[in-house]
Amino acid sequence: MQNKALNPGKILQISGSYWETCTLHAGVKLDVFSIIGNHRLKSKNVSDKLQGDQRSVEMLLNALTAMELLEKNENTYSNTPLSLAFLVKDSSRYIGHIIMHHYHLVDSWNRLDVAVRTGQPVRSRASHTDEEKRQSFLMGMFNLAMNLAPVLVPKIDLSKRHHLLDLGGGPGTYSIHFCLNNRQLKATVYDLPTTQPFAEKTIARFNLQDRIDFKDVDYLEEEIEGVYDVVWMSQILHGENYENCRKIVRKAVSALEPGGMIIIHEFILNNTMDGPLFPALFSLNMLLGTSGGQSYSEEQLTAMLSDAGIRDFQRIYFESPNDSGILIGKKN
Ligand SMILES: C[S@@+](CC[C@H](N)C(=O)[O-])C[C@H]1O[C@@H](n2cnc3c(N)ncnc32)[C@H](O)[C@@H]1O
Repeated sequence: MQNKALNPGKILQISGSYWETCTLHAGVKLDVFSIIGNHRLKSKNVSDKLQGDQRSVEMLLNALTAMELLEKNENTYSNTPLSLAFLVKDSSRYIGHIIMHHYHLVDSWNRLDVAVRTGQPVRSRASHTDEEKRQSFLMGMFNLAMNLAPVLVPKIDLSKRHHLLDLGGGPGTYSIHFCLNNRQLKATVYDLPTTQPFAEKTIARFNLQDRIDFKDVDYLEEEIEGVYDVVWMSQILHGENYENCRKIVRKAVSALEPGGMIIIHEFILNNTMDGPLFPALFSLNMLLGTSGGQSYSEEQLTAMLSDAGIRDFQRIYFESPNDSGILIGKKN
């Protein structure tokens, strides 16, 4: 018997939602939000500025209006408050780099069935790829962290800590915010050599060169030098398989002095591994781009840390657009 109360709306919505994704990506790639800025522009003005076909540009602007990312009044288009804050290039809260990173991932997502069948990645790792893609990836991390750090950093008490190790720190955004929030703190960002120019530029933008330094280290291959009283590991474990995560955590803990604190920031899965939604989808994103990377559950992260001698676990909750979470522990 057919259940007439069921309709396919939810399934069709999920299946077609990439049309909206691609429309947003095209808007950001063509930079229509910055072109419009604080003005009200006709489609002709926008198409002239981006040297596009007027009819097609108008169709794009109308779709972005239908998505509530633009407003249309008497044939002129303007940004909404949301687009002005996040999609216009000169806004401090601009997230266009992470959107371009998502754009670069689309081809691989289209081959998810292949990755699932073979268990092998179908793209090269974002941190090890060509210049343009690496820039979107690293500055995308900067975009995300610039929006999240002001919420997250005040929730972590580092008032008695002096030297933070930011392992896989990327452009150093969290080090910057931890240092801005804790005047006694200095930080060392460890990352690959290709990340160094991005990190140095970002650290200089905040005038923190005298408190934050950068070390080009491959944390899988090399040891960590120095002694720290806090280690921050944000969004690095999901790029590695379980054994490599244990190795990285062991290295990080051995660089911690007794009483030192380790803080993991990750997309943390439920212990049943089937939610929340973003960490579950992010695991597939890692399947597509790494050999063995995935989102881990709190139980798995706690086991990695316990095996390395960490105790006194604490989970910190905060509002994040992608369900990221914090797990803190202490070295005896
Ligand atoms: C997802 S990003 C996170 C960046 C930063 N921690 C944040 O949360 O904004 C992962 C970082 O780890 C770095 N990374 C990946 N593999 C690495 C390795 N073997 N050694 C050092 N850094 C590595 C990448 O270059 C990248 O900056």
